Amino acid sequence: MENILEIDDLHVKFSLAERDVLAVRGVSLSVKKGETIGLVGESGCGKSVTAFSILRLINPPGKIVSGSIIYKGDDILKMDGPSIRAIRGKEIAMIFQEPMTSLNPVLTIGYQIMESIILHLSMNKKEAREYAADLLAQVGIPDPSARLNSYPHEFSGGMRQRVMIAIALSASPSILIADEPTTALDVTIQAQILDLLMKIQEARGMSLILITHDLGVVANMADTIAIMYAGEIMEQGETSLVYRNPLHPYTRGLFDAIPKINEERAMLNTIPGTVPTLSAEPEGCVYHPRCPIGAEECLEKKIPFIQPGEGRQVRCIRAGAQIS
Ligand SMILES: Nc1ncnc2c1ncn2[C@@H]1O[C@H](COP(=O)(O)OP(=O)(O)OP(=O)(O)O)[C@@H](O)[C@H]1O
Ligand SMILES: [Mg+2]
Repeated sequence: MENILEIDDLHVKFSLAERDVLAVRGVSLSVKKGETIGLVGESGCGKSVTAFSILRLINPPGKIVSGSIIYKGDDILKMDGPSIRAIRGKEIAMIFQEPMTSLNPVLTIGYQIMESIILHLSMNKKEAREYAADLLAQVGIPDPSARLNSYPHEFSGGMRQRVMIAIALSASPSILIADEPTTALDVTIQAQILDLLMKIQEARGMSLILITHDLGVVANMADTIAIMYAGEIMEQGETSLVYRNPLHPYTRGLFDAIPKINEERAMLNTIPGTVPTLSAEPEGCVYHPRCPIGAEECLEKKIPFIQPGEGRQVRCIRAGAQIS
């Protein structure tokens, strides 16, 4: 199937007073029509910066240094202001982790949904109101017409996230980026929201870029998984294949850290150390300091991707080696 979005060799840097932060270093990722991609990795590895780059929402001191992001044939990174604004929200929409900060507390829910509808679709106020109620119904809010007059604080956290999804869907985007859409919610509501996202994605044939810490969520929802570490993608491939046979020692470490119910263990497995924040390109493999199978040769040069199978990519020269 054709790629609707192709990120190639993206580099994003934050120039802070005290030092530079190389937040994204050479990320390449393609998204097919109707596909769900799960982007995972520990805090600070560059997931959100990658997502913001797609909508060109990186502001100073941040800068997209190089790379290309091709959406339906055109490079988003080369577009002028009006062209990128025509894409934001309409072609590619995004929902965030904390809905309360994305909704304006002094405006009604109806006003906020209609604002986006009137901006992107040429509807008059009456049509926009009807469509807004219809969207609220689609995301499972009871009594939608009346609820248009409510303010954000009159909704629960889960309902506010549903409203955010309604706003994101209002212009029927081709791609929805969901950046940790449920981490602020309890487990039952989380499951409902993810289920809703999956249903809508299937019904609309929309592509979904799902950013999460939760490997269980990715296993259930994503066709493809990409695992990020310190600004780079370490491993990517079809979700079921990666889960069955993770090849990068980092992926294996992440999977090992998931508690398993029927296994008795004194302590949870963790990966020792933390994700480094880099100011300069590292010599060789960035995971080397934490890697259980690292060797001297790993420090010699930048590690290229190897392709161990159909559609799979692993950035490790010792991929799959026995971990003692
Ligand atoms: N506005 C900013 N100013 C300075 N540094 C930033 C800024 N935004 C991101 N960074 C840095 O870029 C790196 C990547 O951050 P990013 O927000 O993409 O991480 P993340 O993978 O989304 O993490 P989390 O799971 O915690 O959301 C981090 O080192 C972060 O400190
Ligand atoms: Mg983030």
